[in-house]
Amino acid sequence: MRSVQVTALDGPAAVSVADAPEPTPGPEDVLVEVRALGVSWPDLLQTKGEYQLKPALPFQLGVDFAGTVRSAPEGSGFSSGDHVACVLPYGGGAELVAVHQDSVFPLPSSTSFEQGAALPMNYLTAEFALGTRAGVQPGDTVLVNGAAGGVGTASIQVAKGMGARVVGVVSTEEKAAVAKEAGADETVLVDGFRDAVKELTGGKGVDVVVDVVGGDAMTDYLRCLGPLGRLLVIGFTGGSIPQVKVNRLLLNNIDVRGVGWGAYAMVRPGFMRAQWDRLVPMIESGAVNPPLGSVRPVDEITAVLADMDARKTLGKSVVVF
Ligand SMILES: NC(=O)c1ccc[n+]([C@@H]2O[C@H](COP(=O)([O-])OP(=O)(O)OC[C@H]3O[C@@H](n4cnc5c(N)ncnc54)[C@H](OP(=O)(O)O)[C@@H]3O)[C@@H](O)[C@H]2O)c1
Repeated sequence: MRSVQVTALDGPAAVSVADAPEPTPGPEDVLVEVRALGVSWPDLLQTKGEYQLKPALPFQLGVDFAGTVRSAPEGSGFSSGDHVACVLPYGGGAELVAVHQDSVFPLPSSTSFEQGAALPMNYLTAEFALGTRAGVQPGDTVLVNGAAGGVGTASIQVAKGMGARVVGVVSTEEKAAVAKEAGADETVLVDGFRDAVKELTGGKGVDVVVDVVGGDAMTDYLRCLGPLGRLLVIGFTGGSIPQVKVNRLLLNNIDVRGVGWGAYAMVRPGFMRAQWDRLVPMIESGAVNPPLGSVRPVDEITAVLADMDARKTLGKSVVVF
């Protein structure tokens, strides 16, 4: 079968599609014929050996994927032919993948394989961040940066599904259009975002910041929070890990909350499925409808990862088998 292989930690250029033996499922595994594979920032970091998880070389890339069940354990709730989305720390990038039943989710009939491959990690992360960590309530205002990216668009849609008003922060007008299309009520440009947010909220500030970028701008994001506001630390695509002067938290009654979805969710049996079941009504209502960026054949995965590295990605990138 074809498999997306990382043989050296040299970034996207060292990723190739090669032949690999078919997997043998364990007693609690579902065997999935993969049709679409999501491409995410953690995939990119893994190609460089910069992710917290560092598999031994060579390894099979791939966090999010969707396809058809070939076989499933009795009592798993899945059977041959079901359409499913799945998530793994890595290893989902092949024509056939064996995955533990706790990491397999039923795809609603209206959802394509491409959209299914865009859903698990980003939307479950957004649901964990906004629900479990931030306790977003209807009527809250949520500010999302990197708002045209994978986690950004997912956060916009899940926040909208929770009844929030959502403002996206983006670096270009082209990305603003993507964030708006995803469901953001308003967008502001990275340049001057703090003043723009102040104006949009009548000086009150926002309830929650979803921060996937990190870096020096974090202090200005903290300044965007109103009283009892929460900044969610999700990623550092800007390249550097910021530091917080905690007197700022005391003076303004605000929180900085870490969001490590995989580390929490993947070791708690049933947690991800309960999250998925909370997302399904949002999928069915149309609030969650992943905006796909590039959809390309799997043989072009190197170019897709290189675009992400160059900050060119719009929406969620997917490759298909
Ligand atoms: N904590 C968790 O549980 C968890 C789970 C999943 C993912 N993540 C993390 O979330 C982050 C976002 O992932 P993603 O899949 O949404 O990535 P993505 O689709 O590439 O989007 C990232 C966004 O970051 C912004 N950005 C700012 N500076 C950048 C730079 N120098 N290079 C590239 N992008 C830059 C870009 O938006 P603008 O150009 O508009 O600024 C871009 O759209 C990553 O750090 C990932 O590891 C965390």
